[in-house]
Formats: sequence, structure tokens, C-alpha cells
Amino acid sequence: MKVAVLGAAGGIGQALGLLLKTQLPAGSELSLYDIAPVTPGVAADLSHIPTDVKVTGFAGDNSAAALEGADVVLISAGVARKPGMDRSDLFNINAGIVKNLVGVCADICPKALIAIITNPVNTTVAIAAEVLKEKGVYDPARLFGVTTLDIIRSNTFVAEAKGLNPADVNVPVIGGHSGVTILPLLSQSGVTFTSEETAALTTRIQNAGTEVVEAKAGGGSATLSMGQAAARFGLSLVRALSGEEGIIECTYVQGPGEKAKFFAQPVLLGKNGVEEVLNYGELTAFEEAALNGALDTLKSDIALGEKFING
Ligand SMILES: NC(=O)c1ccc[n+]([C@@H]2O[C@H](COP(=O)([O-])OP(=O)(O)OC[C@H]3O[C@@H](n4cnc5c(N)ncnc54)[C@H](O)[C@@H]3O)[C@@H](O)[C@H]2O)c1
Repeated sequence: MKVAVLGAAGGIGQALGLLLKTQLPAGSELSLYDIAPVTPGVAADLSHIPTDVKVTGFAGDNSAAALEGADVVLISAGVARKPGMDRSDLFNINAGIVKNLVGVCADICPKALIAIITNPVNTTVAIAAEVLKEKGVYDPARLFGVTTLDIIRSNTFVAEAKGLNPADVNVPVIGGHSGVTILPLLSQSGVTFTSEETAALTTRIQNAGTEVVEAKAGGGSATLSMGQAAARFGLSLVRALSGEEGIIECTYVQGPGEKAKFFAQPVLLGKNGVEEVLNYGELTAFEEAALNGALDTLKSDIALGEKFING
């Protein structure tokens, strides 16, 4: 199994590279690409860790070499938020980066599973889909927006609130990946909350990224927790591609389109990527209202991405 990380010299990319080097199955390959000249050095550094995972690093304009034969591509290339910015402020720079990199994926590894971390995910995934369509290789089962950070944050905050082990908590998070479009289904967490607790926790989960941006005071956004989230998601893709059954992750995909063209919800993963987009179950009145209140934002985020490519 070959996994490529694009943006590998960045805060997320380096954390993700470390976790993949130590957790990918024996015999795997890890291919690192970033425009930053340090990237071959990041690969050399990781290569000294004694696991049976071969690491190579590519810098400059050479993304094609990194993508040769890739089964899974994780994209975190781009710029991160600073205080006062929301994810949509990243659009102008990151849209072009995702467009170019996905275009190279389409040419070099058209069958790879592509997972987009670069924000604004609600929009960059729509951009990626349009690029793949233009190249005639779009398969909705093979393109994902990584929303796993919302799930792991929800699990952590619920566990903290109720004195539980976070490993025992599993909160599905649906919708999208910014502000009000992030909708944790706390009613399905197996824990009971008052309506005040539900409202407060929902708001905290939606703003958790900003919590980190502000705490880092200009030094970037979530990188370590995001590295962990991306590693979990990437490893789930690898396990599913390897034939392991029953792997379910919440992720932002083009599904049945009942609520929006792209939507995050639980997905059964398999050898071809999305095996089945699963039903997210009954919503409470609070969750239903929150979802309805988020759909216009989500749809316009998606339309922005489509317009970026199609004009
Ligand atoms: N999906 C999520 O939940 C989530 C969470 C946190 C951050 N993010 C996003 O992930 C992205 C990366 O964040 P970070 O903290 O690692 O940022 P960072 O600035 O530390 O790293 C980004 C890396 O991308 C590289 N890069 C820029 N243009 C490139 C290109 N054309 N090709 C290859 N590499 C390129 C840079 O050289 C840099 O090393 C941001 O867009 C951020 O908003 C997503």
C-alpha cells in the first residue's frame, strides 16, 4: 500500500507523516511531497524510525514523482488560519493549490482514494470533484473531505463533560466542516445531556478550531490533533483497501444528495472507497433545526467551489 501526503512539510503533514511511519502496515510506502525544500529532510528524518515502512520525500514542483502508484493521497497543502480568520478566508490561496494538486493526481494516480484536509473543506472537495470530472476520472466513491477532527474533538469534549474515557465515546458528526455546518449528533453519543449542555457543547465543538487558532496566537491552527485525525482516517482507508470489512468513518462525500450535494455522514468503507453512505438516523428537534439552519451555508460553500472551476 502506498500513501502519499501532499503538504508533508507543514504542521499537519509532519505530525501525519510521523503517525503513518509508525502505524502503517509492514511493507507499506509513505511518499511525502511539499513545495518546501526541507521535505526530503523530513523523509530522511522519518526514515530513521525502525518500522517496515519505506519513506521517500520530494520537494519543489515534483508532485508527480510523489504520486506514482499511490493508493491513498492525503492533501494538507495550503495555508492555515490566523486569529480573526475563518476557514473561508483561506479560499483564495487554497483553492488554487487543491486544483493543481488534484489535477496531477488525476493524471498520475486516477484510481487513488483522495482525502482533502486543506480548508475550507466544504469548498475544496467540490473543487477537487470538478477537476476530476474535467479530467474524466471522477468517482464519487474515491473522494473524501476529512472531518475526523470534528469527531475526535466531540468524543474528547463529551468524555470530559461526563468523566468518561474518550476511547469509549463515539459521536457521529454530520453536515460539513466549518462553523454551523459542523453538527455533532450528541443524542447518539450514548450519554444524556440537558438541552443547555447540548447547546453549549455543540457550540464548543463548532468553534473548537478557533479555540486552537486563538491559543496559538498567530502560530497557525490545529496540527497535532489534526495529524492524529488524518492518520486515523488515512489508516481506515488503507485497512478498507486491504479488504478489512466493517470500517465506518464520518466523512464529507458526494452521497445521495438529500440535504446537499456533498455532506458529511457515516460511510462504510471498502476496497473501492465508499462502499455505502449510511443513514445517520433520527435527529432530535434541536439537531434538525441546527441542520436546517446550516444547509444554505453548506450549499453556497459547495457552489463557490464549482464556480471556481467552471466560472
Ligand atoms: N480538515 C481539517 O479538519 C483541518 C484542520 C486543521 C487545518 N486544516 C487545514 O490544513 C491545511 C494545512 O494546515 P497546516 O497547519 O499543516 O499548515 P502549514 O502552513 O503548517 O503547512 C502547509 C504546508 O503546505 C505546503 N504547501 C503550500 N502550497 C503547496 C503546494 N502547492 N504543494 C505542496 N505543498 C504546498 C507548505 O509549504 C506547508 O509546508 C490548512 O488549509 C488548514 O486550514 C484542516
